[in-house]
Amino acid sequence: MTPPTLRSKDLLGIEPLSPEEIALILDTAESMSSIGQREMKKVPALRGRMIVNLFFEASTRTRFSFETAEKWLSADSLNFAAKGSSVEKGESLLDTARNLQAMSPDLIVIRHGTPGVPHFLARNLKAGVVNAGDGAHEHPTQALLDAFTIREHKGTIEGLNVTILGDILYSRVARSNIWALTKLGAKVTLCGPSTLVPRVFEQMGCRVTYSVDEAIHDADIINLLRIQHERQRKTMFPSLGEYTSLFGLNKARLANTKPDALIMHPGPINRGVEIDSEIADCSRSLILEQVTNGLAVRMAVLFLVNGGKGPQEIEGG
Ligand code: CP
Repeated sequence: MTPPTLRSKDLLGIEPLSPEEIALILDTAESMSSIGQREMKKVPALRGRMIVNLFFEASTRTRFSFETAEKWLSADSLNFAAKGSSVEKGESLLDTARNLQAMSPDLIVIRHGTPGVPHFLARNLKAGVVNAGDGAHEHPTQALLDAFTIREHKGTIEGLNVTILGDILYSRVARSNIWALTKLGAKVTLCGPSTLVPRVFEQMGCRVTYSVDEAIHDADIINLLRIQHERQRKTMFPSLGEYTSLFGLNKARLANTKPDALIMHPGPINRGVEIDSEIADCSRSLILEQVTNGLAVRMAVLFLVNGGKGPQEIEGG
């Protein structure tokens, strides 16, 4: 049965969520999705609540999506970027967060390059914490918006074949997607160079293959990931050209997939590397729809971690 609320004041990852909590977030997002279609894109759900967006790493989609979701829910937002802040004068993360806490925010949304930083803040602060990406660990709202997008197109996630293709090792999107998809009953296949897709991922319930044609042949969803150069400390494959020829998704490879297989990518995309430009822009690509759905999913998350009670409260109010 779908619970009426989330158990925690924080959303730190998908790993701690039950399938029922994931369903609650997706159902609430469905109710939120009409807000973006209205002329007046605003509901009073979080009026009087203060949310701090604390971004220590670059972001386009996640940051603007959270900021927009907060505005549409009528929350007051403060936006913090490490560049230009007192972090540059040597202030620690905890001192920065404690000073922000002194201004009584209800919620902190944080992206940080170090895994576990959102968990550290959640233990030390009264405010709720939402993880907007912590190193290569988790990116829970990305996995939720991906699941929402898949459910919207396929009706269900249970029983689907989902292939995640690319740099799995350094990807927080991959880890959060694996947790979400396996909890919801999908069969997950991982593919990429062996240095970036170690067999240890089989312990998370995934199939691992190094043949791209085998990975995509029966896939209902092909989720592509870019190479996370910023996290790799050594060369993981000979050249980008070789990566593209062995693992890039192009027209010839797509011809050997199910006709209704859909293409996803969390962005930013590197055209001509992991995905051909014409594939990124084709009718089977959901890439921009994922961005749109991110707004509804983040509104749902913000609403629920603030104590909201699921879709009936949105529809009733
Ligand atoms: N998908 C994603 O997290 O994109 P940004 O890094 O632009 O937020």
